[in-house]
Amino acid sequence: MASITIRNLDDEVKELLRRLAAENGRSMEDQARVMIRAAVEGQFGSAGRIDQIEKTLRELTSSQSPATPMVAVSSVRGILSGKRILLIIGGGIAAYKALDLIRRLRERGAAVRVVMTAAAQEFVTTLSAGALSADHVFTELFDRQDEHDIGHIRLSREADLLVVAPATADLMAKLANGHANDLASTVLIATDKRVLMAPAMNPKMWAHPAVRRNRSMLGKDGVAFVGPAKGEMAESNEVGEGRMAEPLEIVAAIEALLDSRPKPLAGRKIIVTSGPTHEPIDPVRYIANRSSGKQGHAIAAALARLGADVRLVSGPVGIADPAGIATLHVETAVEMKDAVEQLLPADAAVFVAAVADWRTQSSAGEKIKKMAGEGPPALQMVENPDILAGVGHHKKRPMLVVGFAAETQDLVRNAEAKLAKKGADLIVANDVSHEDGSPGVMGGDRNKVRIVSKAGVEEWPEMSKDEVATRLAALIAERLKTVVV
Ligand code: CTP
Repeated sequence: MASITIRNLDDEVKELLRRLAAENGRSMEDQARVMIRAAVEGQFGSAGRIDQIEKTLRELTSSQSPATPMVAVSSVRGILSGKRILLIIGGGIAAYKALDLIRRLRERGAAVRVVMTAAAQEFVTTLSAGALSADHVFTELFDRQDEHDIGHIRLSREADLLVVAPATADLMAKLANGHANDLASTVLIATDKRVLMAPAMNPKMWAHPAVRRNRSMLGKDGVAFVGPAKGEMAESNEVGEGRMAEPLEIVAAIEALLDSRPKPLAGRKIIVTSGPTHEPIDPVRYIANRSSGKQGHAIAAALARLGADVRLVSGPVGIADPAGIATLHVETAVEMKDAVEQLLPADAAVFVAAVADWRTQSSAGEKIKKMAGEGPPALQMVENPDILAGVGHHKKRPMLVVGFAAETQDLVRNAEAKLAKKGADLIVANDVSHEDGSPGVMGGDRNKVRIVSKAGVEEWPEMSKDEVATRLAALIAERLKTVVV
């Protein structure tokens, strides 16, 4: 394994490294790796310093080992283990994220071969892409050596999947219109494998009719897309749609495309609610609960992995939307109810959200002021609509309706009562009390549930929320299998 000998660095550099490592909670070695990567991506430093860093990088990468993963490999291997990805890096500021993508893919056991366009090389170097992929980086269509060694046809066919990240407006236009005038566009046309594009461009470019046309044409041709996301643009103060999906979202999209496991929920539309709701008191205050959205989001992702067309309705949460899932963001219970009803009809609906039972009768238009001598304001509360019960008794009721029951006492009895009252087929009951001072189910990463149905109560052992989600998705697939489409 390659290593950096911190001892051999200048005192001044060592001191800087020590300070940054402490600030970032990393080891000095990891901090050095992060800085080297940033340097080769051109993010800091003068030319002289980059020379110095490049020398270190060469020493690092000349050893036997591939680029050193910072995450334990065994924990993340899975679908990508042994898969071959051809990554085409287009010319855009988001190209630096493609370097992290290489690392993430390799951590998961994939072999990554990189093609870079001429424009991409203005943003990141072939040296860094080569170091991270531990392979030669291909740039020229008419490079005699490359053509002799492998050739662009083999390059495009030896991969299991082609990924374009960042996919620029130019690369999209070339593929949509069949152009092949450089290595990247030729490889894209020559391939017999699926192509995944992660577009990244200025919001105005992304909204341009020509780009919209090409996007839709590529979709019809079977090209898969991940992102772009809404957010701040790196190169300007602009905010809008056009930001490249994060490397881990691209990894999730790649895994979904390469996942050859059976898809028992293909063709099934499933609504999932997740997270808390916020009920406003005035413009700055609201009533909420401790729900993190982790369980609901994990269920949405697990259902999508089984091929379902998932529509996630999420209250305000601090976690990212699950990759590739259409997510509607709402604040209040009333908004959540409207969103769910608009999504009907569906084959199934899973109500994981911790919906606030009450809201204030009216939210004050201005911040409520503290008045001396008047005491606290009396909040007039009204009951929120019960979204699960509404859908459970709806004329467009899905074939399968699943609710959750968060209880601190009489778990099964309360869950059975909810099953009947709300018109659900299954209730996933969980004990949300945490007397031992642990983080508990709400906000924590683990869950222990019982599945309550008319057939009885099934107790599942304690497991991670992801495992509960996977198992519940399998149970939903099983239940829907018996229903004729
Ligand atoms: N639920 C809902 N709309 C509400 C309240 C709850 O859709 N206004 C759903 C939840 O998403 C969950 C189930 O109903 O699937 C049970 O939620 P829970 O909070 O356990 O029960 P409540 O009906 O709120 O009853 P209580 O708080 O009295 O236990």
